[in-house]
Amino acid sequence: MAYSGEHIWIIGASSGIGKALAEYLAAQGARLTLSARNAEALHALAETLPGDHQVLPLDVSDILQVEAAVQHLGNSNKPLHRTLFLAAVFRPRHINALDMQFTKELIEVNLLGAIYVAHALLPLYRAQKSGQLVMCGSIAGFTGLPGGQPYSATKAALINFTESLYAEVEDYIDVKLINPGFVRTRMTDKNDFPMPMRLEPDVAAKHIARGLLQSGFEIHFPKAFTCSVKFLRFLPYPMALFITRRLREHA
Ligand SMILES: NC(=O)c1ccc[n+]([C@@H]2O[C@H](COP(=O)([O-])OP(=O)(O)OC[C@H]3O[C@@H](n4cnc5c(N)ncnc54)[C@H](OP(=O)(O)O)[C@@H]3O)[C@@H](O)[C@H]2O)c1
Repeated sequence: MAYSGEHIWIIGASSGIGKALAEYLAAQGARLTLSARNAEALHALAETLPGDHQVLPLDVSDILQVEAAVQHLGNSNKPLHRTLFLAAVFRPRHINALDMQFTKELIEVNLLGAIYVAHALLPLYRAQKSGQLVMCGSIAGFTGLPGGQPYSATKAALINFTESLYAEVEDYIDVKLINPGFVRTRMTDKNDFPMPMRLEPDVAAKHIARGLLQSGFEIHFPKAFTCSVKFLRFLPYPMALFITRRLREHA
């Protein structure tokens, strides 16, 4: 019961990795606030979890909803120990086939939503003099890969934003970054390209839950895969771009 007595806010809890994390953390004794847009899915999840949990439906692309949610959590007078931002949308598309309305939504959810949450939440953590804020990037944000834009661009920006947060905020606020490899969720079910070392969501949840308790900044897994993608970042551009262009026929 590693999380016994803790209050943890999961944003993006209605499916995939967030849902698996809710199941794991609730089993470990945490009291959860579950957020996403789909209230019905959140209530259905809450009913299956052991313990007493709160459903707080939320569209993270709406700054007023984000601020109201944080105010609601602050008014409860119970400390909020951890916040996990996992909300994101993705549709694999070639640059020629991008839907610009969806692209706008994608940036508003994946990037602006994370910034809204950090901005609204930090005053609460300062008032508490503690708190953990965890953002979810991706290996897709490590380097530009064919077929992933503009999702990959939002993840690259979110990685950069989270690094800035870590550098900027007070030491008593624990900022962390999750960079998963491929995980089998509705998000990756849309991909029609090979996904090496793809994990099940419950396995991803265990990696993340273990990482939240450790002192490091980044939680990335499976390491054999994430480290090989990270390696591309350290190559000179001619070599790295030669390799990523070779991936074009798989995208
Ligand atoms: N699966 C992978 O291989 C993989 C790899 C690397 C990184 N990631 C990252 O892991 C995180 C979880 O993804 P997943 O694979 O578990 O996908 P998922 O099953 O599609 O989960 C995404 C979650 O985000 C929520 N969400 C989407 N738009 C939202 C909005 N406007 N406001 C609030 N919540 C919103 C969704 O709920 P509603 O639709 O109910 O709002 C859902 O709960 C994402 O940040 C993703 O980028 C995933």
